[in-house]
Amino acid sequence: MRIAVTGASGNVGGHVASLLTEAGGHDVVGLSRRGPVHADYDDLASLRAALREVDTLVFVSSDGEAARMITQHANVVRAAADEGVAHVVYLSGLDADVASPFCYAYTNGTTEAMLAGSGCATSVVRASIFTEFFAGFLDRARESGTLRLPTGGARISLVSREDVGRCLAALALGPPTGRVHAVTGPVALDLEAIAAATERRWRTPVRPVDVPAAAFATELAERGEDPWWSYAYASMFASVREGRWDAVSDEVRLLTGRAPLPFGDVLPPRP
Ligand SMILES: NC(=O)c1ccc[n+]([C@@H]2O[C@H](COP(=O)([O-])OP(=O)(O)OC[C@H]3O[C@@H](n4cnc5c(N)ncnc54)[C@H](OP(=O)(O)O)[C@@H]3O)[C@@H](O)[C@H]2O)c1
Repeated sequence: MRIAVTGASGNVGGHVASLLTEAGGHDVVGLSRRGPVHADYDDLASLRAALREVDTLVFVSSDGEAARMITQHANVVRAAADEGVAHVVYLSGLDADVASPFCYAYTNGTTEAMLAGSGCATSVVRASIFTEFFAGFLDRARESGTLRLPTGGARISLVSREDVGRCLAALALGPPTGRVHAVTGPVALDLEAIAAATERRWRTPVRPVDVPAAAFATELAERGEDPWWSYAYASMFASVREGRWDAVSDEVRLLTGRAPLPFGDVLPPRP
């Protein structure tokens, strides 16, 4: 079987490609603009060429501005359908509701719909928020000792990239499930629990402050955050406040045979 992985030069795609190579018995093709096999989401012809003779595609979602992502994802789905890829394993998000305030819930929901109409069989991983990504929001608490996030008391089932990669690889090695798999960490944590676990990991005081959405947006702007990312982060927390990221599932254990890693074990140590 020939298995291709998009985003193979990145964190998740790179991990999936390594796991599939370690598993052996298959031809594994890593795709990216920088990889051995060139494939650019903006270039349909390059995607078609890269997916020729591919049986299974692990489709790690693109990043950046949502409108451009939708065009890029449409190219990937079209190329997979045109080349007769039998099974697409798609990395989506736990919130894939096109009516959500989160910009990437819209891109993920739209992509899932495109895949459903593509004729390719699918297995969809709806991953919760990656711990390693979320750690970026904790950075400022290192200096200030204060964790200021607009969670509105809601909880998040933070999951490691490693567990997400292991689930994608496991699905790629099996037949299409035709299902959506919610891939989450072992528990859902509120801001107090996140701050307490961070404090234990860093051995330094971290005080949680649930700030209003407008204060968070202003603080991002004051820090010089790029306007697109300010919007994307604000929209993500709007979705968090609606309780869209608090589901906890057993999928990591079911798909990989191993329990998901706890938040405190994945959080990088204080530098
Ligand atoms: N659930 C969450 O918390 C969360 C958080 C952040 C992101 N995500 C999603 O998860 C995905 C994987 O995360 P990650 O940490 O592995 O991201 P990453 O390390 O930034 O990797 C992104 C990958 O996308 C590829 N890429 C970007 N633009 C491309 C293009 N035009 N054509 C072809 N490939 C392109 C990059 O390859 P080249 O640059 O080499 O082409 C790279 O391999 C992200 O892309 C995003 O959709 C989820």
